[in-house]
Amino acid sequence: MISRRNLLVSAGFATAAFAGRSLFSAARAEDGFLEITAGSTSKKLYHEDAEASDLWLYNASTPGPEIRVKVGERVKVRLKNNLEEPTSIHWHGIRIANDMDGVSGLTQEPVQPGETFEYEFVAPDAGTYWYHAHNKSWNQVARGLYGPLIVDEETPAFDPEYDLTLVIDDWRLSQDGSLDLASLGHLMDWSHGGRFGNYLTVNGISRPEFELKHGQAYRLRLINAANARIFDIDPQRFGAKILAYDGQPLPAPEAPAYSPLLLAPAQRMDLLVIGGDDFALEELSGDTPYPFAFFKVNKQMQTQREFRKLAPNPIPEPDLINAKKFEIDMTGGAMGRMVETVYNGKVLTGEDFPKTGQLWAFNGVANLAKDPFFSVERGESVVLKVVNNTAFMHAMHVHGHHFRVIEREGATIDDGQPWRDTFVIGPDQSVEIAFVADNKGKWLFHCHMLEHAAAGMNTWFEVA
Ligand code: C2O
Ligand code: CU
Repeated sequence: MISRRNLLVSAGFATAAFAGRSLFSAARAEDGFLEITAGSTSKKLYHEDAEASDLWLYNASTPGPEIRVKVGERVKVRLKNNLEEPTSIHWHGIRIANDMDGVSGLTQEPVQPGETFEYEFVAPDAGTYWYHAHNKSWNQVARGLYGPLIVDEETPAFDPEYDLTLVIDDWRLSQDGSLDLASLGHLMDWSHGGRFGNYLTVNGISRPEFELKHGQAYRLRLINAANARIFDIDPQRFGAKILAYDGQPLPAPEAPAYSPLLLAPAQRMDLLVIGGDDFALEELSGDTPYPFAFFKVNKQMQTQREFRKLAPNPIPEPDLINAKKFEIDMTGGAMGRMVETVYNGKVLTGEDFPKTGQLWAFNGVANLAKDPFFSVERGESVVLKVVNNTAFMHAMHVHGHHFRVIEREGATIDDGQPWRDTFVIGPDQSVEIAFVADNKGKWLFHCHMLEHAAAGMNTWFEVA
């Protein structure tokens, strides 16, 4: 079994200096639309002597351009598809109008090669979000089709200089240093923990170094864009507090109650750091910490600055007493219990599994069925109990809504768990989440380990 502790390329790396915000932003057309082109780009991911990789990127940059708007503003993006296969963009974590959610085959037709599609929606919540391809995501996201989407507060809580976006990815490189394309779609990954990379980058750079000012308060926006890797991160090791999870601020900056914290695929974590001693962001799941971003504090640059408090976003509280309750039994994968699995209305047997690539199921159904897993009226509260009867961890994502975890493993946990759009569930664990289904349309619920989603861990519900 591939351990998620594998991070091969670690030795001998010069750190790249990376001061301030060097993320690209997209050009705006005369009609106010940002032009985003999905296309293939040859790029050296690894060092200069290595082979170039055939990446698929937005505007030829990794990560894609940072899209930044103010809360309540309209995001207007014209996607041009220069790929040789259909694509679409999903705006992860945005409580968005359904027809703009970007799910190929559910909320829109995929955008064909050579065609364009205009996305236009209001960003209702300030916070840290991201966008990524949502057609064959296991392939398109692994090749680089993702970027940050930052929604600023009415008056941004931090000045731009002190507000750093860190998009983290793990690429799988082959021996020659180029992106390993041959292993894309391997059923071995699909039936196990998903596709893990062996080369970590932050904003497309391996082990970058940031310069901070002494005494200055910074916001670090961590976005996990990896296909399947969970990062174990302990903010206490460098005295950081949590400002927000998955875009939604905590009532006040908080020291984490336990460690390490898990940053699962698609999850975000905003940290508050005050420039003091030098530190590194480290991935802690292995035997020894793996530092992947370095922060040097310039003691000459003395500053003292307060930041503005992050106000809560207007997310309705679920009514737990009158909520509609649904249960999902997750099965499949390597070392998993076999259950009768239906795919496209047909019971799978023997050779069907490798042929269709369907290896996981929710309540015995692999991938999207014709009918929704459940339907509710708009405004109804939903309690969803998820039982993980598999041997793996998963990162479960609800489209179009934020929820609170209200129960984990049968034990009621404290009130006021943070709003999230993606939660982690361990093997043999059960988790209950609650939310108000206040957003009309067809919404996905899937594992954000993208191979798991492709291999069956994907369903949808309807809000009428
Ligand atoms: Cu970022 Cu369907 O997800
Ligand atoms: Cu999964």
